[in-house]
Amino acid sequence: MSVAEKKNVGKLNLYVPARTLESVSRENNISIDSLLKLAANENRLGCSPKVAEALVQAQSEYALYPDVMITKLRNKLAAKHGIEPADIVFGNGSFELISLLAAAYIDEGDESIYTEPSFGWYINVTKLYGGVPIGVPVGDDMGADIEGIKAAITGRTKVIWLCNPNNPTGTIIAPEVLTEFIDSVPDNILLVLDEAYIDFAEEKYIDTVRFTKEHDNVVILRTFSKLYGLASFRIGYAIGNPAIVTALTKVKLPFNVAYASQVAAYAAVNDEDFTNRVLKNNRDGLDYYYREFDRIGMKYVRSNGNFVLVYTGIDSNYLEEEFIKRRILIRNGAEFGLDKWMRISIGTPEDNRKVIEAFDDILKKI
Ligand SMILES: Cc1ncc(COP(=O)(O)O)c(C=O)c1O
Repeated sequence: MSVAEKKNVGKLNLYVPARTLESVSRENNISIDSLLKLAANENRLGCSPKVAEALVQAQSEYALYPDVMITKLRNKLAAKHGIEPADIVFGNGSFELISLLAAAYIDEGDESIYTEPSFGWYINVTKLYGGVPIGVPVGDDMGADIEGIKAAITGRTKVIWLCNPNNPTGTIIAPEVLTEFIDSVPDNILLVLDEAYIDFAEEKYIDTVRFTKEHDNVVILRTFSKLYGLASFRIGYAIGNPAIVTALTKVKLPFNVAYASQVAAYAAVNDEDFTNRVLKNNRDGLDYYYREFDRIGMKYVRSNGNFVLVYTGIDSNYLEEEFIKRRILIRNGAEFGLDKWMRISIGTPEDNRKVIEAFDDILKKI
């Protein structure tokens, strides 16, 4: 007989991330080099060339435990955001920060509210600590239903996960709506603004860092995985008042961010030539998709992220496989409860052209 796992662990479903190039290559007997992955909102321009240089220079310190405070990067980010170094805590990607928030704040029976569909990890971590995830469906425009979220607040609500811009819809909450909402949330509820994609926002947006100064219950999550193209390094950070930072620091591992990741992130923050190129590529890519989807006659959601959600009218499982036959991985909307939708990460102009050619080819056959 196997050892019984904890009750809350038994309630968890395995988290299903985007398929990796390696697994698709193995399962379909396709060489990795011929596959194009546009399924996990990774950065197809890679990362700043300064990262490789910085890593070589840092080699002499690889045998040492890293600075537990991550001071150099902390100070740089504090200056960038106009906050105190003590207002930042680092994580092994936002994934870990979300886990830490749940570890520090969610007790048995607490409710956490999230938009549905959104980033699935909020649900897992809530259940792990015995909490109850409460999904509030997006509106007809696929945007977060702020009135619905307000209505879902009860005496048991402990955390609200607000993914903004939202993954997988790409929608963003208008600044005045967000401001009014933040003011309205009772201050015994932790409001998490997951801003993994905020750098890509096309619509009007405000610097939300000020909310962390005005409200003790607001915390912002940022990641180096998207704009900076450092997903494999696993580094992100939370901004919040020192009480939140201290709570997260108590529950995290002491050396949760590798030194190489600290070095990579520091080099990446400095390289605006690279980030400007990424942002231009993203804008151009989105415009290209909008034009092509209009031509094909497919409905899409205008995106504030590095991906676009499109309604194809075709079974998503079938479409995912048809794309794999054409050596392209895109994200099956059914994984988010959105059958007949696909989420496509923005690639290089050539990548994007391949996706549209695949759509044209598949549509000819059905
Ligand atoms: C909304 C959202 N939050 C957090 C994450 C996790 O990012 P990280 O790579 O920093 O763990 C992702 C990853 O795709 C995401 O889409």
